[in-house]
Amino acid sequence: MDYVTICRESGLLEGEMANFIIRGREFVVVWPEGREPVAFDSFCPHQGLPLGQGHFNGKVLTCPAHQWAFDGVEGHALNADCQLKRYPLRVRDGLVEVKLLAFGELYDNE
Ligand code: FES
Repeated sequence: MDYVTICRESGLLEGEMANFIIRGREFVVVWPEGREPVAFDSFCPHQGLPLGQGHFNGKVLTCPAHQWAFDGVEGHALNADCQLKRYPLRVRDGLVEVKLLAFGELYDNE
């Protein structure tokens, strides 16, 4: 499946996050301080609540429901044994693009 444009690069801010729904997929893009933006599946592995309604402090993404916390670069949980699925993300010509994976395609961190 191809990359799709989600926003202009100027639409993201380092240290913050944004939530997107593209073609029925919901994901959250975080931009960890000093690193590159990262796209994760928006649904928390605990009970599926949307992480886009949570909090990102520039390093850690925290679910709004039960405060499971995830590393903003790799997506591994800091207080549970699980991992967020990470979508391939690239920036081209000032546009942020995410690869919407087809059924069976592996995520970046699988
Ligand atoms: Fe995210 Fe419970 S649904 S911590």
